[in-house]
Amino acid sequence: MATNKDSSPTEPAPTNTTVNAVLDTVARSAPDIRNGLPGRRVAIEGTNPSGESQKAADVYADELLCERIGEIPNVGEYASEERESVVDVGSGLSVCVDPLDGSSNLEPNAAMGTIVAIYDAPLPATGRDIVAAAYVLYGATTTMIVALENKDTVAEYVIHPDGNYQIVQGEMTIPDGPSVYGFGGRVPYWVDEFKAYVEEIESDPGMKLRYGGAMIGDVNQVLTYGGIFGYPTLTNAPEGKLRVQFEGYPVGYILETAGGASSDGQQSLLDVEKDDLHARTPVYVGNESLIDDLESALAGRD
Ligand code: F6P
Repeated sequence: MATNKDSSPTEPAPTNTTVNAVLDTVARSAPDIRNGLPGRRVAIEGTNPSGESQKAADVYADELLCERIGEIPNVGEYASEERESVVDVGSGLSVCVDPLDGSSNLEPNAAMGTIVAIYDAPLPATGRDIVAAAYVLYGATTTMIVALENKDTVAEYVIHPDGNYQIVQGEMTIPDGPSVYGFGGRVPYWVDEFKAYVEEIESDPGMKLRYGGAMIGDVNQVLTYGGIFGYPTLTNAPEGKLRVQFEGYPVGYILETAGGASSDGQQSLLDVEKDDLHARTPVYVGNESLIDDLESALAGRD
């Protein structure tokens, strides 16, 4: 991939080559995914393994990425939020994809993303097995945020309509002085301790609400301006909504690499352990001080 990030001398070359090939494939596929959205905004009959209705675009993006990533040498497994089982594509690294995060934003024509997590372990892997994570944001422009192992900053690329891309920020860190927050889930189902925490956040005159309904759009606001995003535990869904393998681990990895923090309410998202490929977890990411306060606020729960 065209990058200013040199390979770490301690990391074996095949891993770097494969990681770069996966990231390059995702970046070069982003315009194809974006161009494929018109005409695919409708729901199809199926549901994904989490029981959510699928859009034609979800399936299109998944098939496109499975085919292209599956052809990369030294990729062993491909898994997606849109398919039940892991696809065996060879031997080597495992790649997990949320092909179109926030696809319910297709109808109102709001931001969406593609998330990719690369694990040096068979699936389901853990957050500590990640060697790179990235997301594409289909906003007013198409951008990609990349976090690599052994780095302490993330990089932002702009992706052009022809698939070429260029770095625009090589050393992106979450700013001090947080200013935005966004929390998912229906408020009546928030637990009391979380409600109290949100009231604290709202009483801070420096903080303003930014919630758009696609995790990647909301997380990118937090990475850009500082703040906190959460899809919390709910009284009717203790594990929240987001999937650990496809959403929780990669955004936790990216925000932690950018100098922020992540949590499931008690521990780093990267330490969450689940056996099921499609398991859910509460997700909180943002500035370390805000995540610390959140964990303290939730600590009083049973
Ligand atoms: O993964 C699904 C997703 O679309 C996330 O991108 C987003 O954060 C969340 O669901 C939005 O859920 P809700 O519609 O409950 O706010």
